[in-house]
Amino acid sequence: MKARKIVIIPGDGIGPEICEATKNVLRAAGANIDWIVRHAGVSALEKYGEVLPQNTIDAILKHKVAIKGPCTTPIGDGFSSVNVQLRKRLDLYAAVRPVRNLKGIYTRFSNVNIVIIRENTEGLYSGVENVVTPGVVMSMKVATERSCERIARWAFEYAKKRKRKKITVFHKANIMKLSDGLFIRKAREVSKKYKNIEYQEMIIDAGCMKIVQDPAQFDILLLENLYGDVLSDLCAGLVGGLGVVPGANIGNDCAVFEAVHGSAPDISGLKIANPLAIIMSGVMMLNHLADTEGRDDMKKAADKIKQAYDIALSLGETTQDLEGKLNTPEFARVLVQHILKIKN
Ligand code: NAI
Repeated sequence: MKARKIVIIPGDGIGPEICEATKNVLRAAGANIDWIVRHAGVSALEKYGEVLPQNTIDAILKHKVAIKGPCTTPIGDGFSSVNVQLRKRLDLYAAVRPVRNLKGIYTRFSNVNIVIIRENTEGLYSGVENVVTPGVVMSMKVATERSCERIARWAFEYAKKRKRKKITVFHKANIMKLSDGLFIRKAREVSKKYKNIEYQEMIIDAGCMKIVQDPAQFDILLLENLYGDVLSDLCAGLVGGLGVVPGANIGNDCAVFEAVHGSAPDISGLKIANPLAIIMSGVMMLNHLADTEGRDDMKKAADKIKQAYDIALSLGETTQDLEGKLNTPEFARVLVQHILKIKN
């Protein structure tokens, strides 16, 4: 089949190292991809004078699919988060983060198989902050009927397609009666049209306690923006950390795949980062191409990569964050070796 052009944004910190590993693994698995390299984050600021250049946005709009390394948002005046900007400008309203136990990675928790669906464009990420009067600041939490309804609909459609059984909304509508109130009202309304999917609401503080007591009771979590951000890292901690949780940001036109973790400045350049989360995001991307464009070749490649990392993890062939001995390129090479042994 013809090569598919896909945008790759190496990003900052550990981003370029883990993106290189991802390209090698996808290539070995037979994914026929012609990479279009674009930049975002500090690396783009150095090259183009802005953190999210228009040519990056244009390339994603043109090719519809991108994979992205983490981007550092410079702290200080005048920079709004690259990731927030990207999600808003491309209207990537649904963040999807599957969190599950992996073979060979033992944690205190078993039977974790949760999909986090996070509303990606509103909430406290509106970027509207004011100094009301010296010493008093305000951040605006935005919720619109349109966005609350479309994320609820997206989550229920996802559950239906994937044959998932239950959707739980975490909220704080007892305090934020209007904004979180609207979020649960819309979710409740949408849930009535999906009789075969159980719908549940939980106040977020109690929900967090229940997650760490028994995560196996949760199936899909539907969350507004900030809660989705926090719960993603919390749930990553249940299954081995940020090195093993992939993600996708999906809109009606485009999809951008990326790991949940950030640019990890503390280990950047040491070549010890775990590339698995972004490789798994790459697997999600290949499956997305199979679903949306009928690319069976991409599905085959995705299946091979999954088999390869299951084998590697079962053999203890991992990076340091998972108590292994391999560095980033070594881990990628091990995956490539396993892939090459898998029969078509
Ligand atoms: P972080 O996720 O970069 O790091 C948290 C901890 O996890 C660090 O100790 C780090 O070494 C470790 N870690 C993260 N990914 C790892 C990997 N693949 N392998 C091994 N260890 C890993 O979060 P932090 O420090 O809060 O953020 C750093 C920068 O990343 C900030 O500028 C932030 O804005 C940005 N960020 C970007 C994201 C994105 O582009 N999607 C998401 C989250 C943060």
